[in-house]
Amino acid sequence: MKRWKIAEVLGKEGQQLVNTSVTVKGWVRAFRSNRFIQLNDGSCMATLQAVVDFEKFDELVLKRITTASALSITGTLVESIGTGQSVELQVETIEILGDANPDDVQKTVMQPKRHSLEFLREQAHLRFRTNTFGAVFRIRHNVAFAIHTFFNDRGFFYLHTPIITGSDAEGAGEMFRVTNLDAKNPPLNEDGSVNFKEDFFGKPVNLTVSGQLEAELAALALGQVYTFGPTFRAENSNTSRHLAEFWMIEPEVAFNDLKDNMDLTEDFLKYICSYILQNCAEDLKFLNDREAQEQTQKPQNERNELSLIERLEFVTNNSFKRLTYTEAIDVLINSNHYKKKKFKYDVSWGIDLQSEHERYLVEKEFKCPVILTDYPAQIKAFYMRLNDDNKTVAAMDVLFPGIGEIVGGSQREERYEILHRKCEEFGIHPEELSWYMDTRKFGTVPHAGFGLGFERMVMFVTGMSNIRDVIPFPRTPQNAEF
Ligand code: 4AD
Ligand code: MG
Repeated sequence: MKRWKIAEVLGKEGQQLVNTSVTVKGWVRAFRSNRFIQLNDGSCMATLQAVVDFEKFDELVLKRITTASALSITGTLVESIGTGQSVELQVETIEILGDANPDDVQKTVMQPKRHSLEFLREQAHLRFRTNTFGAVFRIRHNVAFAIHTFFNDRGFFYLHTPIITGSDAEGAGEMFRVTNLDAKNPPLNEDGSVNFKEDFFGKPVNLTVSGQLEAELAALALGQVYTFGPTFRAENSNTSRHLAEFWMIEPEVAFNDLKDNMDLTEDFLKYICSYILQNCAEDLKFLNDREAQEQTQKPQNERNELSLIERLEFVTNNSFKRLTYTEAIDVLINSNHYKKKKFKYDVSWGIDLQSEHERYLVEKEFKCPVILTDYPAQIKAFYMRLNDDNKTVAAMDVLFPGIGEIVGGSQREERYEILHRKCEEFGIHPEELSWYMDTRKFGTVPHAGFGLGFERMVMFVTGMSNIRDVIPFPRTPQNAEF
């Protein structure tokens, strides 16, 4: 018999199924009074109520219907007389697909009660069964789908860039080495250093920190491309916004300048927010109410001014504030916050903005998403286009409320000589990047792109405050458990 998804049964299609026989399969969320089974199959947040006539069933079977056990139920779908749901299932047959021992369930996040996110993180393999994580991961899927739709609709090509790479795009030097040499007994050079010529690729290689440089090559032929893949950073940042393994979306567009790049970013981020508002109403409402409930536990001055749904609507409906780094430094220095010495880190032209500075600009000063541009050259990557002032580069960072930096990007340096000089200034050997430098010799053109941190975007649209709670299996320092 066809298996119906609970989302279908409770949705519009379900109306046509009333008074017919329907089979559903899922996991028991609750079984009350030996009569009411709440079944969830992950297709949506809601559970389907299945009503058992216990006189018709063997007591041994009823005993096995416990929270978390898996069932296949066939029955007649009827209009529900109770409140809450339009339909319910009058059970005819039940097959127990998988038992769950109540004593074991007691110790896990599947026990139906409110658990702390920390406890849920310890059971990352089971937390998918909770309402919160069901909602988060359904929304995560929709964000990914929205991203592909956005670019596909605009004629971008999805480019798969390598995960194993010999280059360090960001010049950050915080990479994971990939090797199959014997860690205990590696081949050595005469000077005692490891001889990577004997390694798998004949040279040292790492997990990629970004697909941008490869994407630039493709953009300078295909016109407009985007990557969407895993990236890896071995920085020892144990914050609520950093992962060692995260996903990044990197569009790259030939003939775009910084202004075009900002326009594309803004359209893109608005599109994602409005897509989620339109397509994830049930999950979004759950997370919205969950956050609202949590807010009541906080002191008044720490509460969000807008609810989750209001924040998404706000981003969709309002222009982002655009200003230069230099203007932002002035705003910070002239703020009462600065005068009252409330920043932990000092502010002066040339500093890399700290997250407290970024959050001040977004949350206190402008109260909207902010795009900062034209940063000092020395604090940004070598590939960013040098401005005419010879001091700043055509960089842009997008800062979001509650998140801080969500996007980093720039117009790229398309002039061979300047790029060559910048490489040397940054201690990068241009010969090692010849495959990249070459594009500037064969019909170089202005071009621009950016990187969106996928998990930071999912944080924003779900309202989750820790990045570990928006990726199925988080990798952070000292943690790769599941
Ligand atoms: O600013 P980043 O380092 O920029 C780049 O990698 C460029 N190559 C992008 C480009 O121009 N094509 O990283 C881009 C974004 C950040 O704004 C942030 O949202 C996210 O990636 N990100 C992280 N997310 C989670 N954990 C980390 N450790 C992250 N590091 C960066
Ligand atoms: Mg950045």
